[in-house]
Amino acid sequence: MRKQDVIAKLLPATRLPVCSVAEAFAPSNIALSKYWGKRDAELNLPVNPSLSVSLGRLGSHTRLSCIDAAQDEVLLNDQPVAEDDSFSRKIVSYLDLFRSEDAPRLRIETRNNIPTAAGLASSASGFAALAKALDQLMGFNSPPAQLSAFARMGSGSASRSIFDGFVEWQMGVREDGMDSVAVRLPANWPALRIGLLTVAAAAKPVGSRAGMQRTVETAHLYQSWPLQANTDLEKIREAIITQDFTLLGQTAERNALSMHATMIASWPPLLYWQPESVAAMQRIWQLRAEGLPLYFTMDAGPNLKLLFLEQDQAAVSAAFPDLQVVAPFVQP
Ligand code: PMV
Repeated sequence: MRKQDVIAKLLPATRLPVCSVAEAFAPSNIALSKYWGKRDAELNLPVNPSLSVSLGRLGSHTRLSCIDAAQDEVLLNDQPVAEDDSFSRKIVSYLDLFRSEDAPRLRIETRNNIPTAAGLASSASGFAALAKALDQLMGFNSPPAQLSAFARMGSGSASRSIFDGFVEWQMGVREDGMDSVAVRLPANWPALRIGLLTVAAAAKPVGSRAGMQRTVETAHLYQSWPLQANTDLEKIREAIITQDFTLLGQTAERNALSMHATMIASWPPLLYWQPESVAAMQRIWQLRAEGLPLYFTMDAGPNLKLLFLEQDQAAVSAAFPDLQVVAPFVQP
């Protein structure tokens, strides 16, 4: 099913802005139980459910304003982005899904306060903020689940960035994907800390879309992934409910390494790690053997996201002095 056909069933045929400016913020998110592999590449429908934690005030802010011009204007962190740049093309084709052809063109200003070098996906928060701002501009008044589905059509993990806190993206079974939406879990964990450890800032050679496709198509090991992912998600949910940090850390770390195992088993091989990534893993394992409850997770890139509790922050920061620490449940 095409995105425009799904959208046509949900929104009025004529779609024009109801105001001239709209803005929205969406947080970045880190999956504790990962999404890897699509069962439908057009709609970004996943093979497995996933569970993430949103990063509070770290994310994307997007402002849309109607302009009197023939083309949309895209700005990223106050810098104009060329029309033929892939970033602009992705945004414009996403907007085109939701607006009538004769709708006024837009200036799209996105500001990310995520350190770009940290290797954190800004596409998740970016598409979630864009979906929210667009919903206001066009007066769609979408309920949160529909907003999550719309954000998913930009980038899978964006479905989770519609919400704060712990978020589960249910895989759904419908062909139109309208049950493949995220929900916020009714739980907080004020002592939870996430440390962003940047070991390499270079752009990754294979993006997540192409990486997933390669893994699904070529890695026999991928057959075991849905079972692993479903089992891990249940454990993470239980760890959150019972506030069992050991269960959370162990499950999240093993889930990330299992995902990377499927990547490595692809052909051509997909290894996102750099020597510095492995050195950081070994340092974490050493610290853990010495009694520090410290775990990590990793996405499709060389950087690590450390998981620990507030009480261990001084010890973790002493071991990793450049760590950027996020407290997802603490209001700044
Ligand atoms: O939705 P994408 O294309 O940003 O893919 C995200 C994939 C991972 O970050 C590796 C896992 C996840 O669940 O966020």
